[in-house]
Amino acid sequence: MVITIANQKGGVGKTTTAVTLAHGLALKNHKVLLVDLDPQGHCATLLGMGEEPGVFDLLVNDRSLREVTRFTGRPALWLIPSNKKTATAQVSLVLEGYRHTILLEALAPAVNGRVHYTILDTAPSAGGGLQENALYMANLIIIPSAVDYLSLDGIAKVLKTLNALHRPKPPVLWIVPTFYDEVTRESRANLAMLRDRFGDRVKRPIHRATALREAAAAGRTIFEYAPDSRAAEEYAALVWEVLNAGR
Ligand SMILES: Nc1ncnc2c1ncn2[C@@H]1O[C@H](COP(=O)(O)OP(=O)(O)O)[C@@H](O)[C@H]1O
Ligand SMILES: [Mg+2]
Repeated sequence: MVITIANQKGGVGKTTTAVTLAHGLALKNHKVLLVDLDPQGHCATLLGMGEEPGVFDLLVNDRSLREVTRFTGRPALWLIPSNKKTATAQVSLVLEGYRHTILLEALAPAVNGRVHYTILDTAPSAGGGLQENALYMANLIIIPSAVDYLSLDGIAKVLKTLNALHRPKPPVLWIVPTFYDEVTRESRANLAMLRDRFGDRVKRPIHRATALREAAAAGRTIFEYAPDSRAAEEYAALVWEVLNAGR
């Protein structure tokens, strides 16, 4: 199963969701490959790892999937990191004749058997080709959406990019509200608006949690840093949803 995490807005919890979901599934004994497609390379940072070799080397330097796939030190969890060179990879893809399937071809051995879940974390921008590739190969698309300042714009842009791909079989789409704080009227109103518009595709919200920020700074996932926290429990619930969706 391929899960793509996307939102054309930055700072909405994409990378946090990608890394946490990946580790959560691995903790349930599923083999998981996390692929970072954002030149910022934060997946490696959040896991306390270095950034090279990365997805650039796979797509442009003809390095093999095995060569760029790094063990995270956590059972059943592997990472293909990203770094600034990924932006160059996008340019090369366009120059060499762009297709929606370049990433799928490069990751095929993993997707078609070596791992159970491939999780793709994307950059907050489309047009370079990598996000399109990631949306094209997804069985499930998760759009984290910050409800503290909700902009439906980021969600709309992902949907627009997705529609332009003309996929024969549309993927399942979920919205995960993030930075939720029920004390604020804004949070409650924005969550209600999302539910109104997207119905049961809106999953349980992830509260704003300092522990998530601290875990990131420590290079550990929330399941390592604060396994008893509400944030860990909320992300564990998302892991369960994914496990059930895959059946
Ligand atoms: N639910 C949350 N509560 C508080 N801070 C969060 C939460 N989710 C993410 N963060 C923090 O917000 C910042 C942006 O999150 P990140 O996952 O990198 O977003 P994106 O990948 O969409 O840019 C990071 O510092 C991260 O640790
Ligand atoms: Mg990110």
